[in-house]
Amino acid sequence: MDTAEHRRQLVRLLRLAYSGELAAAYAYAGHWRALRNPEERAQVQKIEREEWEHRATVGEMLAALNEKPQAWREVMMTCVGRTVACACFFIGYFLPMYFAGKLEHANVMEYDGAAVHAAHLGLDRFIPELHHMSATEREHEVFFSQAAVKHPLLPLVKAIFRWDPSEVLAVEAANTGIGT
Ligand SMILES: [Fe+2]
Ligand SMILES: [Fe+2]
Repeated sequence: MDTAEHRRQLVRLLRLAYSGELAAAYAYAGHWRALRNPEERAQVQKIEREEWEHRATVGEMLAALNEKPQAWREVMMTCVGRTVACACFFIGYFLPMYFAGKLEHANVMEYDGAAVHAAHLGLDRFIPELHHMSATEREHEVFFSQAAVKHPLLPLVKAIFRWDPSEVLAVEAANTGIGT
């Protein structure tokens, strides 16, 4: 992959992330309000705040590259986030937790991928922030995994949507030494 392609891929990932963070923040704004458990409400509210922070950081990176977000994607992700926020009040506890975890998994991959392209481009100042955001997304993924992992619908839903919270927690336990 040449330099131009690394730059193209980095900008593509940053634009995806910038608008994705918008959808996530709007969705979590509904999600935490729909939850009853005060600890879970507080945690998802904190996650919403962290998504807004990520969006600001990614926006600064795009600006530093003299690039802009995609207007159509911003509109689309606003609609997605607002719709999911409303849905959280009607579809019960499990599905919002499961799909949030699956989304967070994708976010981890996006920021890791962006860090690889930034390294090839010599954009060293981006790399710690991209790794930090990836690590925060991983924490989000673990939180939603813990919420979704014991639900009786999980075997059916994970067979269809191919994200398994029990695998996430097993890796996390191995990495932190819990259960060893
Ligand atoms: Fe985020
Ligand atoms: Fe997140």
